[in-house]
Amino acid sequence: MNTKLEENEKDILILAIESSCDETAASVVKNGREVLSNVISSQIELHKLYGGVVPEIASRKHIERINQVIEEALSAAGMTLDDLDAVAVTYGPGLVGALLVGVAEAKAISYAKKLPLVGVHHIEGHISANYIENKDLEPPFICLVVSGGHTHLVRVKDYGEYEILGRTRDDAAGEAFDKVARAIGLGYPGGPKIDRLAKEGNPDAIAFPKAKIADAPYDFSFSGLKSAVLNYLNGCKMKGEPIVEADVAASFQKAVVEVLVEHALCAVAESGLDKLALAGGVASNSALRSAAEKACAQRGIRFYRPSPILCTDNAAMIGAAAYYEYIRGVRHGLDLNAVPNLKLGERLK
Ligand code: KG4
Ligand code: ZN
Repeated sequence: MNTKLEENEKDILILAIESSCDETAASVVKNGREVLSNVISSQIELHKLYGGVVPEIASRKHIERINQVIEEALSAAGMTLDDLDAVAVTYGPGLVGALLVGVAEAKAISYAKKLPLVGVHHIEGHISANYIENKDLEPPFICLVVSGGHTHLVRVKDYGEYEILGRTRDDAAGEAFDKVARAIGLGYPGGPKIDRLAKEGNPDAIAFPKAKIADAPYDFSFSGLKSAVLNYLNGCKMKGEPIVEADVAASFQKAVVEVLVEHALCAVAESGLDKLALAGGVASNSALRSAAEKACAQRGIRFYRPSPILCTDNAAMIGAAAYYEYIRGVRHGLDLNAVPNLKLGERLK
């Protein structure tokens, strides 16, 4: 696909909205790769009280915050709705009530300002976060998508064209981090807390299992690892042995990171491609970033990962993905609905 704007073509400015889980976010993105503003209102403090995201609270909070978040994004970009070329929004996958807030808002703006509406797949957004800081990155490449709800190994064939090579059979990688964090008393959200605590622990202290699935080298399974951690903790309690939380965190993290990196490298090698990108909230994990970077450097593979703030949920990544949808002519009508289980590569016409 020709994605280069001719010199005399005008810039494309997209207002992007993201509300699929517990962040209310809006961003103005120019030509898919230049972020003019990126406002994120996190609800973590609220959901922390309950140990995880409470869908009803998330929806209500999105409603309270969304107008202000959009105003802030426009003002930080130094523009008004009249300067925009399109409005984009995540319409799936995610929590239906949360998604609906963003979708209704985007449709209202599209209708009132007669702006084209572009619905975006949340995971396509995570993958596209890589385009923002890596101006040279173009498909094809392999992307390891690791978030709270998804663990996918994807061949990005072209902008908006994906082939899923492997996926998790049970828990997502982020989910495993969150559950193990809860078990060792770290609270929600667990990923960043395990990341921090693991730095003080010994990754070789406990040998946790690394699941391999016969005949499906790119698929993942994390529920066995999670159970192994829980059994280890229970075993220590029953025997009255002390639990060194930092060692548990470091050993668990090592098991997850090794599996993720091994599978991703195997996919790169077999694809004949020479580029690997990380995406999703777990892509901000420091051990995963350094292990993947080191492994890629040893094999002459070009390695890409977004800055941590662009790995976790944000709207700039939605604006990046929306640009490539926009220039390929994707437009949604005012009948666009939230699709909580939207599949990657599946488009609503
Ligand atoms: O992509 P994301 O913000 O939301 C989803 O689309 O799911 O990912 C959130 C997930 C949570 O499970 C969180 O614990 C995890 O990403 N996460 C991390 C780190 N930062 C966020 N996991 C491991 N290490 C981190 N530093
Ligand atoms: Zn996400």
